[in-house]
Amino acid sequence: MSTQVEETLVLIKPDGVARNLTGEILRRIEAKGYSLVDMKLLQAERSLLAEHYAEHEGKPFYEPLIEFMESGPIVAFRIAGNRVIEGFRALAGTTDPTTAAPGTIRGDLGRDWGVKVQQNLVHGSDSPESAAAELALWFD
Ligand code: RTP
Ligand code: MG
Repeated sequence: MSTQVEETLVLIKPDGVARNLTGEILRRIEAKGYSLVDMKLLQAERSLLAEHYAEHEGKPFYEPLIEFMESGPIVAFRIAGNRVIEGFRALAGTTDPTTAAPGTIRGDLGRDWGVKVQQNLVHGSDSPESAAAELALWFD
């Protein structure tokens, strides 16, 4: 059996906080068995968001995405567990909330609101490299 304890960054995006889904989303993370290591509520600065979403600079949804992420408070979690990076991405579901599988956070709690960028409630780091970089960015 292999042990692969990891940490990942989870963000509850402004839509999730505004819709009072912070508790429901944390409940799902805890029910899955992952450990909460650190958490905070913050209003993200544009510079932080630009660094966080640097890979998307130049894409048509980039500016609406940054504006959406600046639109209200975000809750950031550091969570830990074996294969938690992959595991949280599975809990979250795919990017488009309309087609995200039922049973996932985005599939159960998200929908398309007809705005310029998909508001899909959560972010989760997508690789060990991005988890390390994003945890440093949001927590250190
Ligand atoms: P995230 O980085 O936020 O965890 O989401 P993700 O990996 O599932 O999706 P990604 O491709 O990294 O896109 C980042 C965020 O940009 C918004 N987006 N909207 N066509 C669209 O309207 C569109 N494409 C991307 C979403 O909020 C997505 O989560
Ligand atoms: Mg992503």
